[in-house]
Amino acid sequence: MSLATRPVAAAEPRPVAPTGTRVLTGDRPTGPLHLGHYFGTLANRVALQQAGHDVLLVIADYQVVTDRDHPGNLLRVVNDLVLDYLASGLDPQRTTVFVHSAVPELHQLMLPFLSLVGMGELSRNPTVKEEIAMSGRSSVSGLMMTYPVHQAADVLFCKADLVPVGKDQLPHLELTRSIARRFNDRYGPVFPLPEPLLGDAPVLLGLDGRKMGKSRGNSIALRDRPDEVATKIRTARTDSGRHITFEPERRPEVANLLRLAGLCAGRDPDQLAAEIGSGGAAALKRVVTDSVNTFLEPIHQRRAGFDEADGHRLLEQGTERARALAVDTLREVRAAMGMTYETGFSTG
Ligand code: TRP
Repeated sequence: MSLATRPVAAAEPRPVAPTGTRVLTGDRPTGPLHLGHYFGTLANRVALQQAGHDVLLVIADYQVVTDRDHPGNLLRVVNDLVLDYLASGLDPQRTTVFVHSAVPELHQLMLPFLSLVGMGELSRNPTVKEEIAMSGRSSVSGLMMTYPVHQAADVLFCKADLVPVGKDQLPHLELTRSIARRFNDRYGPVFPLPEPLLGDAPVLLGLDGRKMGKSRGNSIALRDRPDEVATKIRTARTDSGRHITFEPERRPEVANLLRLAGLCAGRDPDQLAAEIGSGGAAALKRVVTDSVNTFLEPIHQRRAGFDEADGHRLLEQGTERARALAVDTLREVRAAMGMTYETGFSTG
């Protein structure tokens, strides 16, 4: 029995904005991208690009040290991340990908931005509060408290119109809008106010029923081989109910697996449950494994068509473009603030 009938269940392109809208979003480079990312944001990024928008992706390497002492092997993680983007279907000719550490002018925006926010505002940010609680650390770094201001620079340096994000990022976007508004009020109109774009895919939990995370070992990475997928799903948590039903409240783990199979196969999880019925957890896991592997196949194929050199080229071009945008914006910001002293101001 193969219920995996439709290999690609990407979000349909939605007419969210006029063609040519500048879209910026990004990721922390902490590990390989997984199916939660795919259905949460990657599919949407591809759809936005296919609809003709200018898609920029920031790989937020400085953000990695908000909740850990060491950034890890960034070179490897970043190289893999870029290949994950290409494997997901982003067009190498039209995507601007860069690491923010490689764009120095972006960071200088943080100084005036910091002057526009209050300490109270920073300490009330619910996402930061949760990350502090999760980190289990006894002291909180200045970067942890201020990275949302840095993130505002990620968005505003290129004057993005639209920022596709998950719900947890909404407080940061609200802050970004406040910073843009306050800057414009104080120094004159420089920044457009970016709009958030919330994905509408249901949130996938990890295979253990907890929040899916790159570093929690409970996710299926886009690059996982079929045998790895099978092993992971075999050990996924279910419950003792013999008959499979889709009841998200009462049976969250089973519902999550059905949702995963549903997204991968482009099927309704309720219907999948009805078809599996008395087959129980074993049949459920077979269906999920099948659907996931069928879904991942074209992604693996696309990935095989690119090598490390393609990734490097993409980063190089992306950085060059991002840098040119950042230089322009910083020049405007300094001019608005009366800080243009030298003649022929350049990047230095
Ligand atoms: N904080 C985001 C995350 O953890 C990543 C990110 C960094 C980002 N800069 C951004 C997202 C700018 C959107 C816009 O997922």
